Amino acid sequence: MALSSKIREFHEKREKLLLGGGEQTVEKQKAMGKRTARERISALLDEGSFTEYDLFVKHVAHDFDMGDKSLPGDGVITGTGTIDGSPVAVFAQDFTVAGGSLGLMHSRKITKIMDHALKMRMPLIGINDSGGARIQEGVNSLAGYGEIFFRNTLSSGVIPQISVILGPCAGGAVYSPALTDFVFVVDNISKMFITGPEVIKTVLGEEISMEDLGGARVHSEISGNAHFFAGSEEECFAQIKKLIGFIPRNNTEKAGVLTSAEPLTAHEIDGIVPDDPTLPYDVRDVIKAVADNSDFFEVMENFAGSIVIGFGRIEGRTAGFVANQPLEMAGVLDVDSSDKAARFIRFCDAFNIPVITFVDIPGYLPGADQEHAGLIRHGAKILYSYSEATVPKITVILRKAYGGGYIAMGSRHLRADFVFAWPAAEIAVMGPEGAANIIFRKEIMSSADPEETRRQKIEEYRKKFANPYVAASRGYIDAVIEPSETRKFIAHSLKVSENKEIQLPPKKHGLPPF
Ligand code: HXC
Repeated sequence: MALSSKIREFHEKREKLLLGGGEQTVEKQKAMGKRTARERISALLDEGSFTEYDLFVKHVAHDFDMGDKSLPGDGVITGTGTIDGSPVAVFAQDFTVAGGSLGLMHSRKITKIMDHALKMRMPLIGINDSGGARIQEGVNSLAGYGEIFFRNTLSSGVIPQISVILGPCAGGAVYSPALTDFVFVVDNISKMFITGPEVIKTVLGEEISMEDLGGARVHSEISGNAHFFAGSEEECFAQIKKLIGFIPRNNTEKAGVLTSAEPLTAHEIDGIVPDDPTLPYDVRDVIKAVADNSDFFEVMENFAGSIVIGFGRIEGRTAGFVANQPLEMAGVLDVDSSDKAARFIRFCDAFNIPVITFVDIPGYLPGADQEHAGLIRHGAKILYSYSEATVPKITVILRKAYGGGYIAMGSRHLRADFVFAWPAAEIAVMGPEGAANIIFRKEIMSSADPEETRRQKIEEYRKKFANPYVAASRGYIDAVIEPSETRKFIAHSLKVSENKEIQLPPKKHGLPPF
């Protein structure tokens, strides 16, 4: 055969494979408001940067007429490319080919690109759109999932791992995304669940739609499985690109530095926090007043709202922000907000991102519901995460810092490197009202005017303890600063802690309470 005919043959073969499951299935995919796997990769990566591998991989199953099926690429597209010039490894399941179901060779394509990502120390982005384990391939499919989960775990804390749910992600398939660092979902498109509506109906006799069971909103607002919610695939890809811009490629590097960064005057810091400790405000305004260009990229925006987490930059360098949110349940720590903050702090620590904490917390949420839901176990995670984190840790106490909340929120005692407090900070075992009622109970009860005595005692307590000066006198905080000085103090702290180095005691691994 002449070379030109060989090239022609290659072109023909390739063109056929690039069509995926064919016109009909592609149309069905589009009718569901979904892009094809290839379109998704093109939309996500820098133009022309995608290099595909294993296009010619074929499935090896023969049972149930599988031998006769072509299954282009075995239902998954894998390769490498760049996002804003930074290398990433990608896989995208192709629902138009056997419903993107995972058979042996499909899983081998995924594990091969995962191995590349780990070896080359670059982020891995997995686009999930699949009916799950390929039923015809039996245990080979299950083995494939096991191999993926194992690699997710090995890569954890070494390279950032991102999961994008752009279709069904059912059964055990959900555990790969669950093992990764960030899960992106899109309204009306993402569906994630262990057992589907059919099984639920059979076993429990209950009817539920896929959307109500495990749609994008469910995982962004209720279960906490998703970190980013988007209204469209396009918005989702923009979010992924933004995230990639904030984080380093691996755990041996720091995130890239962006130049030209000044805070917008629109986010003036004075006046955000009301003097009255019972009045709420949006702590995101404080973060925006401090972050470069007021650019705050919030993570898990719609879940466990009493804490706010996300990325921003200070003088061009990425920082992770953790802040109590007085707008929601006065900013308490509960089961979910403890989990949310703890995992984020561990991500920042693994990837050399300093943690900046803003404190305004009345304490852990009281009540039988929370106690029974494991507040002790979950609440301990945040203590663990702050304590083990060796990245620079800077804490600013804005207003209330009561009880366990004071300790948990990046206190000096958990080895914050710098702790600052605003003049209105109240650092105490509990709020003045609760404290006065307990320690002055006898005096209040025996007084001729209990209400007046209570008021006096509350005031007495407030004067003595509800201020930053007792903590400052012990060196628990490093400086009392004016709100307008916050960005300056944080920027300086980051600068002087650039070469921070501490060693934890040698161990195989710790045992966080998860
Ligand atoms: C083989 C599958 C498949 C699967 C879908 N297909 N899922 N083939 N194995 N798991 C095929 C269909 O037969 C069909 O092929 C094509 O993909 C498109 O599927 P449709 O059903 O037509 O699409 P749709 O109506 O959009 O429904 C999508 C779906 C449904 C909701 C995902 O297909 C479904 O329920 N699939 C089964 C889901 C499931 O139970 N998976 C196993 C989970 S257990 P044709 O040739 O007709 O076009 C699991 C265990 C993993 O994953 C454990 C790891 C630890």
